[in-house]
Amino acid sequence: MDSRLVLRAVDISADVPCPQAGPGPACGLVPMPAESLRAAAMQPDASARFLAGRAALRRFAAQLLGIPAAQLRAAYSCPQCGSGPDLSHGRPGFTHHCQPLPLLLSMARAGNWVLLAGLTAPVAGEQLGVDVEDPERLGFDGFDAVALAEAEKRAVAGLEGTALRRQRARLWTRKEAWLKMTGDGLRTDPREVAVLDKPGLTDLTPAATGLPASLVAAVALGQLG
Ligand SMILES: CC(C)(COP(=O)(O)OP(=O)(O)OC[C@H]1O[C@@H](n2cnc3c(N)ncnc32)[C@H](O)[C@@H]1OP(=O)(O)O)[C@@H](O)C(=O)NCCC(=O)NCCS
Repeated sequence: MDSRLVLRAVDISADVPCPQAGPGPACGLVPMPAESLRAAAMQPDASARFLAGRAALRRFAAQLLGIPAAQLRAAYSCPQCGSGPDLSHGRPGFTHHCQPLPLLLSMARAGNWVLLAGLTAPVAGEQLGVDVEDPERLGFDGFDAVALAEAEKRAVAGLEGTALRRQRARLWTRKEAWLKMTGDGLRTDPREVAVLDKPGLTDLTPAATGLPASLVAAVALGQLG
């Protein structure tokens, strides 16, 4: 794995309300207006996970560059919708005093875990994507038909139970990490992204991320254009 890459797993359980306990502790940062707007359309637990993940990412970016988190402004970008402080989705980014930060960022959520990836001072054209998945979500019939390329279907054929779910998760996290790196997301059919031998993709161990061993994660780092 590229030695410039910084990975961090954050447990956001304390920020997610349970129906009996009411709202969790405030995550300490005032959300951006676009984040508040997106959160307002969600159910309470999804909204809390969303805002906690966003706050964790802002703190992470601030720490990587040694800037107070409260001074950073979110500036997301989407190939379809453009970029800027009013955008609530897409590739994450931040500005400081209106200047874009020299920083690649990516993030993913799985339950109450957030996986953050960052790289300071990237070279021109470099991009980053990260993903984490709970294999238990991938046990359903039909996953292979909608998600996997032909060679990948052959690679999982004959597997069952936990081995099947973990191998599916391995392939799926590689695909999502790759599609976050390109910025296309699932606008691209995942069956068209063959990830068995793609250069630039790395499976991430729990030791590398700090995530529980039950989760599966991957990172993509590459040069676009
Ligand atoms: C990228 C994508 C596959 C991730 O979805 P997911 O599995 O539900 O969520 P994950 O937890 O793995 O990752 C979410 C994070 O991915 C990142 N992300 C989202 N879209 C991204 C893109 N186009 N490029 C890079 N990163 C992206 C964001 O940081 C997002 O965090 P947020 O929820 O705080 O905004 C999905 O969001 C997608 O396909 N997006 C493109 C399509 C789209 O957004 N269409 C609507 C607007 S035009």
